[in-house]
Amino acid sequence: IKQSRTCFMGKEIEFYEEIDSTNIRAKNWSKEGAIEGSLVIAEKQNAGRGRMGKQWDSPKGEGIWMSFIVKPVMSIEKIPQLTILAGLSMCYSIRQVTGLDIYIKWPNDLVVNNKKVCGILCEMVKVKDELVVVVGIGVNVNSKKFPDDLSHATSLYLEGKKLFSRESIIKSFLRRFEENYKIYIETGSLMNFIGDYKNYCINLNKQVKIIEGQQEFIGFVRDIDQEARLIVEKEDGSLISILSGDVSVRGL
Ligand code: BTN
Repeated sequence: IKQSRTCFMGKEIEFYEEIDSTNIRAKNWSKEGAIEGSLVIAEKQNAGRGRMGKQWDSPKGEGIWMSFIVKPVMSIEKIPQLTILAGLSMCYSIRQVTGLDIYIKWPNDLVVNNKKVCGILCEMVKVKDELVVVVGIGVNVNSKKFPDDLSHATSLYLEGKKLFSRESIIKSFLRRFEENYKIYIETGSLMNFIGDYKNYCINLNKQVKIIEGQQEFIGFVRDIDQEARLIVEKEDGSLISILSGDVSVRGL
């Protein structure tokens, strides 16, 4: 990736044949003074990490394993919305490059035919007095098969029946995310994006099971609000709003 036609996203890139986790490297790089938009890409991760302490399989050459750094000047509770923006941006890019009907599973998994192709792990670090956000994205691009315990996973290759260029997807993503991020910072809200987000979100107007630690309950997703919170009607008719954090949502 030499010319990404962006102002800051991917202006500095570190490329690794093999690494523990691009998120870990991006966090360390930010402590060494990485500029906004710095990007870490790896062919293979040996300790790829997912949300909620899970591991993320990242075999050599099969996908996009990357993390980038942003330094948004905004209040801390708005940070999780950046993952919404990243997920939506990647959704547009994959649609554009592959033509596949890819959707968002709240908050920011991307799915094709209900199976996961992309996940995002956002982490925050304090560097001196500055808040740095590392956004890690994993996309299963050309994987030909998955282990049996990953039956809910798929790849763009398996769904589209052809190989896709990882570089085209990354370039498209860098441009789109940059564009969207500028708007997000200017307006300080997701209002310009929530309409598209709702169009692509598979959970809207569907039953879901919400799992939060040991607790779980079933509800119906009535709406997604301007902050991308899920508005869920419980079985007793009461409404609650759910922030992404450490909740897992399953479609029923
Ligand atoms: C999820 O659980 O859905 C999030 C998966 C995030 C995986 C990506 S791959 C690149 C980056 N480095 C990591 O260790 N994790 C993220």
